[in-house]
Amino acid sequence: MISFNMKDKFIIEGLGNKRTLSGKIRVNGAKNAVLPVMASSVLFKDGFRIKNVPFIEDLNRLDEIFKGLKIEMNKESEGEYFIDTKKIESKEIDEEASKRMRASIIFSGPVLARFGELVFPHPGGCVIGARPIDLFLEGFEKMGATIDHHDEKYFLKTENGKLKGANIFFKIPSVTATETFIMAGVLAEGKTILKNVAMEPEIGSLIEWLNTCGAKIKGIGTPTLEIEGGGLLEAKDKVYETIPDRLETGSFLILGALCASDLEITHCNPNHLEIVIEALKDSGVDLEVGKDYIKVNNKNLKNYKAFNIKTHEYPGFPTDLQSPMTVFLTQAQGESFIFETIFEGRLNYISDLVKMGANIKMWDSHRVTVKGPTQIKGRELEGPDIRTGFAFVIAALVAEKESTISNVYYIDRGYEKIEKRLSNIGAEIKRKKE
Ligand code: UD1
Repeated sequence: MISFNMKDKFIIEGLGNKRTLSGKIRVNGAKNAVLPVMASSVLFKDGFRIKNVPFIEDLNRLDEIFKGLKIEMNKESEGEYFIDTKKIESKEIDEEASKRMRASIIFSGPVLARFGELVFPHPGGCVIGARPIDLFLEGFEKMGATIDHHDEKYFLKTENGKLKGANIFFKIPSVTATETFIMAGVLAEGKTILKNVAMEPEIGSLIEWLNTCGAKIKGIGTPTLEIEGGGLLEAKDKVYETIPDRLETGSFLILGALCASDLEITHCNPNHLEIVIEALKDSGVDLEVGKDYIKVNNKNLKNYKAFNIKTHEYPGFPTDLQSPMTVFLTQAQGESFIFETIFEGRLNYISDLVKMGANIKMWDSHRVTVKGPTQIKGRELEGPDIRTGFAFVIAALVAEKESTISNVYYIDRGYEKIEKRLSNIGAEIKRKKE
């Protein structure tokens, strides 16, 4: 459907610490909102239109999962798809897609709730730590499912073809698990109470969408959700409009602060990014925050001050912006302490920044200290996950001389046509096809 090459590379000419990029950059719809809403189609008797969908690699994975479930995804125009669930029939989640995209596990909730049976492989995705699925298995058991595990697949069954409402407390407020059990609860028998849920804006947006189409979910934006189970949902002619990607917004903000003289980030929702905006402002970045835009103004060049980051569930500092922000802190004056609390593999890229010349001391797999500012130098890099891939793009732009980033596949998973959008604001970035 969309053609992305695993072997593509970016060649980036560094700005050598000059802040010369300029113009406007538009934020796309949130990848992490599209995935659960598309998965929610399994709960529908008809189908629905979804707008403002970014043209990213993960759409291929969704298409594979949809094909396996006999759901049709038709592109109607740029960023607009119609998901037709009238012929849905399978209970198995595509193996290849699951291996490449962890979030495919979101389908487990609605598929099990709808068919009373489910087969899925252990999910893969970005290499950012162990990423277990215990919360999913424990939750489904509480809702009355039995689980069998063999041939590297999980086989789940319910008694009368129905999940039962349950009281589930999440030991960890997982985003995907919260979304999965919201959807499971919508078709379960009776009431489901979810406690210690994640509160990311994408979850709120999913709940609003489901409620618009007949679901009964209370507690939006709070740590406890109450779901009254019922029948299949119906969209009729309702359309889901994807919320702006807060992680893309944050990535562009950091890029702007380090590399632009002036940058206007448009079509975003600054309310979803308060902690990042506050941190950058405190550090000395001149930001003008509007209702749906943020302007970075770097006309009066000055040094930024170092600060500490501790990643946390929303509304705390997003783990996805930890690596781009660490690049920022290599350019800030003073010492910063970075504590990655969510994933243990999300600091693996530090050795690459050190090889570029950054002064970073790694204490353990969760904690580093950065001393800045240091002039970093271009080199060969390999994107290990979506956000770090983009952090490397920022580092390459800040650096002196040229960098090559391989494994661009990961960047394509989260950022639509990024080389084109960055070229439009003055970056020298080219895609080299192998
Ligand atoms: C989602 C986001 C991802 C973001 C992450 C944390 C999507 C598609 N992806 O990923 O961009 O980085 O939230 O904000 O929305 N955990 C368990 N057991 C489980 C499930 C999770 O221990 O069964 C742990 C994880 O290892 C991790 C923590 O819970 O330490 C949070 O992970 P989770 O919120 O589930 O991340 P994802 O939903 O995969």
